[in-house]
Amino acid sequence: MVNINTTTGHQNVAMLGIGAYRPKRVVTNAEVCEVLDSTPEWIEERTGIKSRRWFSEDETLRSIAATAGARALKNSGVAPEKIDAVILCTSSWLTFVPNGAPSVAYDIGINGVPAFDLTAGCGGFGYGLAVASGMIRGGTAEHVLLIGAETMTVGINPKDRGTAMIFGDGAGAVVLGPSEVNGVSPAVWGSDGENASAIRQNFDFLNYQFVAADYQHKDPETDPMPRMSMIMEGPRVFRWAAITLPRALSEAIENSGVAKEDIEVFIPHQANARINELMKQNLGLPEDLPMANDIETTGNTSAASIPLAMEEMLRTGKAKGGQVALLLGFGAGLSYSGQVVTLPPAPAPEED
Ligand code: UT7
Repeated sequence: MVNINTTTGHQNVAMLGIGAYRPKRVVTNAEVCEVLDSTPEWIEERTGIKSRRWFSEDETLRSIAATAGARALKNSGVAPEKIDAVILCTSSWLTFVPNGAPSVAYDIGINGVPAFDLTAGCGGFGYGLAVASGMIRGGTAEHVLLIGAETMTVGINPKDRGTAMIFGDGAGAVVLGPSEVNGVSPAVWGSDGENASAIRQNFDFLNYQFVAADYQHKDPETDPMPRMSMIMEGPRVFRWAAITLPRALSEAIENSGVAKEDIEVFIPHQANARINELMKQNLGLPEDLPMANDIETTGNTSAASIPLAMEEMLRTGKAKGGQVALLLGFGAGLSYSGQVVTLPPAPAPEED
């Protein structure tokens, strides 16, 4: 039997820098309610959202991902030629072919390295963190640029009360690389295909037609354009989250070897402020423990929400580089991923 070469990498991995891009257009609850049958008060009370960013004009998923990635690179101090792989976590890149990461990497000035998209819904960034740190530990890459970027509003029906008020657009990124001490715990990640239909799209690409039960083009007078959109059975996801996520969080802390008392920051996916408050309480985390609440002005940006929330906390001083943070991503799939990490240094101020 031949013995084929293997690789060995660096066991200790950390986030070395962070960057973000928030689209220019701010959309208030009042503006959403110009089309949606809802009220600004209902939206704020039930989701915690006051406003969100929607992409417009010259912004695209490609451009916002590249800007966030370039900022993370600059803040990490790692030269572009030292990046060995680029991972783009997204559920809103609109072509199957080509995928997004190679073009985004090229725009940042990184060409020729492995670059691929990773789709795991709102759990995407956590999955990316597990894959990227695994690559560095296994020796297939030394530095990885990990981007979470979404233009969720391309697939949202502005009249759908289950999604229109929740989702927003944005991009966040980190650079991962070897570190003196380890800063990324093993992931506690998983999926539940039995509940896959709880978050779905309403277009069947195989038969090239809308799924009749989810077809929302009901009023050709006022809404003449049929559009592919996402359907979310919110309460069903809420119930799944309440059962699945506390277990994932406890296991993530246990596997990290860090005591619960040593967690300094909680950065859950920004799906709904009420879910996050409940998780914090149920986990027995101190009431005054800093917790991300970027959803208030950014909305739910799916795979971009964790790096965006992390960047916001570091930029505003709510959290500091080197602090121990508990992360948890969850959503379509249904999928989830929890990790304990040390936070990267605060980003340099940016002019958007
Ligand atoms: O990011 C991926 C993971 N996603 C999540 O984790 C999402 C989890 N789910 C949620 O965030 C929430 O389920 C939603 C925010 C989507 C919905 O909030 P909810 O509190 O679960 O509302 P509900 O669907 O149980 O509806 C409660 C009431 C109903 O009225 P009645 O029957 O009590 O009279 C709805 O008709 O609120 C009504 N309602 C609305 N009213 C105004 C539902 N949606 C709206 C709306 N505006 N947009």
